[in-house]
Amino acid sequence: MSSNAHVPVLLGPVLKGLKIKPDGCYVDATFGRGGHSGEILKQLNANGRLIGIDRDPQAIASKYGTPKDDPRIELIKGDFAQLRTFISDRDLVGKVDGLLFDLGVSSPQLDEARRGFSFLRDGPLDMRMDPDSGVPASQWLATVDETDLRHTLLKFGEERHAARIARAVVAAREVAPIERTTELAAIVESAVPAAHGKHRSKKHPATKTFQAIRIAINGELEQLESALAQSIDVLRQGGRLCVISFHSLEDRIVKRFIRDASREPEPYRGMPTIPDEFKPTLKIIGRAILATADEIAANRRARSARLRIAERT
Ligand SMILES: C[S@@+](CC[C@H](N)C(=O)[O-])C[C@H]1O[C@@H](n2cnc3c(N)ncnc32)[C@H](O)[C@@H]1O
Repeated sequence: MSSNAHVPVLLGPVLKGLKIKPDGCYVDATFGRGGHSGEILKQLNANGRLIGIDRDPQAIASKYGTPKDDPRIELIKGDFAQLRTFISDRDLVGKVDGLLFDLGVSSPQLDEARRGFSFLRDGPLDMRMDPDSGVPASQWLATVDETDLRHTLLKFGEERHAARIARAVVAAREVAPIERTTELAAIVESAVPAAHGKHRSKKHPATKTFQAIRIAINGELEQLESALAQSIDVLRQGGRLCVISFHSLEDRIVKRFIRDASREPEPYRGMPTIPDEFKPTLKIIGRAILATADEIAANRRARSARLRIAERT
């Protein structure tokens, strides 16, 4: 497979979850390399429409996985936190039949050393999904306060050695700026005690630190919360929301959002009549879906994927 490729996870359940109508209007809010989009397009007829969004200019430029110059697809470079604006600019508010979020980073982003996402590949410590905006991780690490760093590692990485790692980063940057992925990985590795017994893990000791810094500098959880709230306006009645998350922080946000939107607020629960503005806006469709053992064997990224589906009421 080409290094530009990304194998879409939970593809079958996503296509089923979106309940695709051949002439419907679909939004792939995380276009990536178009793995899901390409398959959605195959199910649309000439009247169908697909809008792909990604904050990574390389993803948009690749158009990978989708036929070139297909008039049914439009790609937008931007944050999905601007979902409502993008959809309103196209006069599609309340008209979208399906909305997909496949969160996190794509394989090409991880594989390309110069994007700085991977502790296994030596590259500049960048980690921005959109290299045209925000600050690279190296710059953020150069100035972040030790306490803030510790909180970030705890909150976004659930890293139990957060205090040691934060202390080691601050000590290291006083000697020389931390500019490479492998430098940060080595600092983390030397800061944490060697794991024994039940704490022994196959994961690299820097896994959680990289995850936490990536989430922080890309504002990932704020983006997700904002986009989910906007999805209610964007979807038509009966329209489907499908969200694939890859770690518990994301999944918790998705699960709570869908749960809260699918029941009336406390004072109205169980009442015979409920004012329209307090009626549930979503219906939960089934339980969270995980990848099968076969899919995980073929694609390791699928091992932590969790798909939640809801329908606009
Ligand atoms: C897991 S990949 C999606 C892969 C895609 N489903 C496929 O099959 O090719 C996630 C993509 O979402 C993009 N992304 C993540 N957060 C975003 C945000 N807040 N706004 C727009 N795009 C975002 C990333 O740049 C990345 O390309």
